[in-house]
Amino acid sequence: MQIVKNIIDLNNTLKSSKKEEKKIGLVPTMGSLHEGHLSLIKTALKSCDEVWVSIFINPTQFNDPKDFECYPKDFENDINTINSISSKINLFIPESVNEIYPDDITVDEFELGFVNKVLEAKYRPGHFDGVATIINKLFNIFLPQVVFFGEKDFQQTLVIRNLIDSFFPNISLVICPTVRNENGLALSSRNKLLSVNSYKNCGIIFGCLLFAKENYLKTDYADLLNIIKSKIEKINEFNLEYFEIRDEITLEPFGKSNNEGRFRGFICVKVEGVRLIDNLLLD
Ligand code: PAF
Repeated sequence: MQIVKNIIDLNNTLKSSKKEEKKIGLVPTMGSLHEGHLSLIKTALKSCDEVWVSIFINPTQFNDPKDFECYPKDFENDINTINSISSKINLFIPESVNEIYPDDITVDEFELGFVNKVLEAKYRPGHFDGVATIINKLFNIFLPQVVFFGEKDFQQTLVIRNLIDSFFPNISLVICPTVRNENGLALSSRNKLLSVNSYKNCGIIFGCLLFAKENYLKTDYADLLNIIKSKIEKINEFNLEYFEIRDEITLEPFGKSNNEGRFRGFICVKVEGVRLIDNLLLD
């Protein structure tokens, strides 16, 4: 395994891979790796000649400074975890924020459209501008053939699709299924921030998505929302931030005049103040 910490070394390493026409796969992460990340890496290993995992906690995608401060960091463990699955994986861990943001820590402007107006975008203003900024930088640095992202952050994958369609037509996007624990909780680095007791109760989040899948066509939308809210909020320290059903491509809301696409349930629950998101294809 090689670990590269700055752009100059990275460019030198990538130059020879490009010369040899290797198929490069990139898995961008913010570290604190779990089985969800590992499934992306394992999928990349199967189809690419060279796999790069980037670990960078991107400051511009945090609209809440406290969230940025508390975001779990475990670089040593991440390196050991990666090494344990294959010695062929390459890691890019920028040694400072300066490597990525040499001038100012600011976002670049992208026209992300409606995807950047609803759900996460509404509750985390600027979040996807930060995501687009870092992803655009990473794609320009690596110029990978294939990139791997998780379905858990489904709205994020729409933002990435938008970037690829606009600027990187030669990159293939692979979206890997959400990995869940035995209770159905989607794996996330933020799960580490939960108390043992709340963690045990988090299966209710996926439970509500399954409930919505079963009932959304036969239940009034407002009633469905109320039932989900009460299921969540009867648990101490659990608050529903949103539950919405939207078209999985346009993110237009499900409704009487709009019921012909493929619809997904999107949920965000604040557990002890930690935002946990999940989603499920309903039809
Ligand atoms: O999903 C994440 O971990 C981050 O949003 C990403 C895609 C690595 C960008 O910083």
